[in-house]
Amino acid sequence: QNIILIGAPVDSGKRAQGCLMGPDALRVAGLRRAAEELGRTVLDLGNLAPASLPEPLPANPALHELTETVGWTQTLMKVAREAAPEGMPIFLGGDHSLSLGSVAGMAAHARDIGRPLFVLWLDAHSDFHTPETTTSGNLHGTPVAYVTGQPGFGAFPGLPATVPTRNVCMIGLRSVDAPERAALAETDATLVDMRMIDEEGIVGPLRGFLAKVAAAGGLLHVSLDVDFLDPAIAPAVGTTVPGGATFREAHLVLELLHDSGLVGSLDLVELNPFLDDRGRTASLMVDLTASLLGRRIFDRPTRPYSAG
Ligand code: ARG
Ligand code: MN
Ligand code: MN
Ligand code: MN
Repeated sequence: QNIILIGAPVDSGKRAQGCLMGPDALRVAGLRRAAEELGRTVLDLGNLAPASLPEPLPANPALHELTETVGWTQTLMKVAREAAPEGMPIFLGGDHSLSLGSVAGMAAHARDIGRPLFVLWLDAHSDFHTPETTTSGNLHGTPVAYVTGQPGFGAFPGLPATVPTRNVCMIGLRSVDAPERAALAETDATLVDMRMIDEEGIVGPLRGFLAKVAAAGGLLHVSLDVDFLDPAIAPAVGTTVPGGATFREAHLVLELLHDSGLVGSLDLVELNPFLDDRGRTASLMVDLTASLLGRRIFDRPTRPYSAG
């Protein structure tokens, strides 16, 4: 299957700048070569720009750069839906507000092909704020609420298809704000926090979710936030939270995702190369992507994922 690289230098989703350099850092770290070495044909669409709205939205002091983020959402929703029939889109962020568009577009694509979309959110944060509950005003904290159809997103494009919360699994949680926790408690999303990972390991909950996706004939979108990883191995992110996934846990997750054969699209988000240490975070994100695309230690035959 072709790989379609979509540069999304979104930097409007939070105040600290630098994620606009993310797509190029991922390219410099060898993303194309890694995919080609695994036998994939790679098409790079270059770096996109946000749609400009006919008029800027009324300034909202509670929300940082709303107009630009709405423009990005329009652009990415459209490009995702157009690219997905041609291969596997990889969205090169850019901050996590790019997922308002990438996931909404993939949900539309999944509807186009008659499969349900599932979303795996690998992140320290739940990103389940709405424009009404956020206290930071940073829209990178809102994409899961938007794509699952929560209220308060009137300024954003209407969704061709929403993702039911029961189709969402978040792994790596360790920073969830009170309004997010309250809203998530009302949903049937699968929530895997660091305590559960410490007690039971990361494989069980992931396998359980993949079995559910497979049983539903679903298409899986993976959204990988740099801060899913422990800051000791991935320093290049503005929102570090201690106690994240280890190198081995993260590779294992992406290897299991490869073996599942269910993944149709990927976001690589929140990489801020300005904060990196000799490119190590960008290189790790590329290596994790390679694991998702089938890089392995021994060339064992894969077995399709089966429940149990
Ligand atoms: N919950 C916090 C907020 O709303 C942090 C969100 C961090 N999100 C992210 N994509 N890094 O500001
Ligand atoms: Mn800004
Ligand atoms: Mn995030
Ligand atoms: Mn995060």
